[in-house]
Amino acid sequence: MPVNVPGSDKIASNNPMSYIITKCIALLQMCASSKYKLRQIHAFSIRHGVPLNNPDMGKHLIYTIVSLSAPMSYAYHVFAIMHNPNVFTWNTMIRGYAETENPVPAFHLYREMVVSGVEPDTHTYPFLLKAVAKSLNVREGETIHSVTIRNGFESLLFVQNSLLHMYATFGHTESAHQMFESMKERDLVAWNSVINGFALNGRPNEALTLFRKMSVEGVEPDGFTIVSLLSACAELGALELGCRVHVYAFKVGLRENLHVNNSLLDFYAKCGSIREAQQVFSEMGERNTISWTSLIVGLAINGFGEEALKFFKEMERQKILPSEITFVGVLYACSHCGMLDEGFNYFRRMKEEYGIMPRIEHYGCMVDLLGRAGLVKQAYKYIQDMSLQPNAVIWRTLLGACTIHGHLSLGEIARSHLLKLEPKHSGDYVLLSNLYASEQRWSDVQSVRRSMLNDGVKKTPGYSFVELGNRVYEFTIGDRSHPQSQDVYALLEKITELLKLEGYVPHTANVLADIEEEEKEQALSYHSEKVAIAFMLLNTAPGTPIRVMKNLRVCADCHMAIKLISKVYDREIVIRDRSRFHHFRSGSCSCKDYW
Ligand SMILES: *[C@@H]1O[C@H](CO)[C@@H](O)[C@H](O)[C@H]1NC(C)=O
Repeated sequence: MPVNVPGSDKIASNNPMSYIITKCIALLQMCASSKYKLRQIHAFSIRHGVPLNNPDMGKHLIYTIVSLSAPMSYAYHVFAIMHNPNVFTWNTMIRGYAETENPVPAFHLYREMVVSGVEPDTHTYPFLLKAVAKSLNVREGETIHSVTIRNGFESLLFVQNSLLHMYATFGHTESAHQMFESMKERDLVAWNSVINGFALNGRPNEALTLFRKMSVEGVEPDGFTIVSLLSACAELGALELGCRVHVYAFKVGLRENLHVNNSLLDFYAKCGSIREAQQVFSEMGERNTISWTSLIVGLAINGFGEEALKFFKEMERQKILPSEITFVGVLYACSHCGMLDEGFNYFRRMKEEYGIMPRIEHYGCMVDLLGRAGLVKQAYKYIQDMSLQPNAVIWRTLLGACTIHGHLSLGEIARSHLLKLEPKHSGDYVLLSNLYASEQRWSDVQSVRRSMLNDGVKKTPGYSFVELGNRVYEFTIGDRSHPQSQDVYALLEKITELLKLEGYVPHTANVLADIEEEEKEQALSYHSEKVAIAFMLLNTAPGTPIRVMKNLRVCADCHMAIKLISKVYDREIVIRDRSRFHHFRSGSCSCKDYW
């Protein structure tokens, strides 16, 4: 099939080879938007006798293949028969692999290149480091880093940026930070990499600190910066800080950025400000699957399951394709609303209508759905029939359901699986001990506790975060490090008295192992979330909502006490614990006491 370019047949018939090659290259440079034309031009060149190994033709062909993201196997085919590819062509091949799903061949090519005597140049390393970052091959990355030091390329800004990006992607935030600190010149890309590295690797405070430094140095953020910051704020539950990022983002003109809007939505939902999240959603001019999914998951984990399902129906009506994460939200909503049949129905439709293979998270929701409905035996049967190998989370869900519904024998089965899968998980000892406690088997409760000590299981220390003014405060058990701690503890005692008037009885029945801390009697009034709430009651105006982020589950006693505090002090209190939200208002909680 001739190439559809005027005069090309004439050229082909009466011009020398070099002219044909020049023409083909010109054609290749014009076909930057069509893979179809690319193959036509290639065929055309072969038909007119251009040798397959012609380096000029090969160089341009490969460049076009890579630029069009055509298959790398095609590029390799051309590459393999080329004579003496130059550094440009090697780089193009490395870049091509770096951009695919499997970037590993990029390292092999790099070695071959060095062996064949071609010197890498400044462009080689950024592509190569991108491939290394993508493959998460730390050893390879460190080797290449030391090569760049030896050959002097490490001093170039874009090589430094690539190294920084690579370490941040590995989660080696310290190395990334070191790289960053050593850079003489830092552009926005560098700031973004280091901030994002901290934000995504559980170091949100550092991310925010660096952002302040960035503002001081007069570097303007872009959409990527804002997205990283919002995810840091979401993780810390730093609502006010995030709100400021929101205002700031719109001020610097990032209003029309879909990613920024999506991360705003996600941030508000994760901070328990579900109404703000909905507001962002409703004002968005453009929405994609991620926007819908964030809202649905956000509503579900905040305890608004029915609304989550309503939005899912609307999503389907608007023919927006749900993802597997959307379905995690949908199934979660069903299980928390006790909608058994709907849950099974959605699970089936996910597979049949949307062709989504259930993942372990979806099975987890189904086991939870059955467990919450009290169908513990069916849940066990379901686990046995699952097409995936049940993991610890699945067995833990069953164990939790057994604890709530007092099903001892199945609880012990679940426990035996957990011991094999994750022997030192302190939460499982807690659940098992609660199970025995609910059956009043105190000696078993004691022996669980002893085995926990003997097995050397460390309880995760509990802590809570609150945000006040410009700062995030952290509290631990019995925390007295804070200057206001005297007032805080005085208030805690007063609270206990007030609550007793409201009928509060400290809940000691199974508190023994329910919590992270050691001394139980004292611990009761001093759990980190209670300390945090007292601190906020002291420092905020009446009626201000209080938000607490906690790393562990809220214990039953605190849960009851906080319900009463919300009533007695007339405050809305939102607690995000390890896996969900509790919205306390006027003496009740959105979790309906099942969590
Ligand atoms: C982002 O949200 C704001 C309102 O919060 C809206 O004005 C803007 O149009 C949205 N941008 C996009 C791309 O949807």
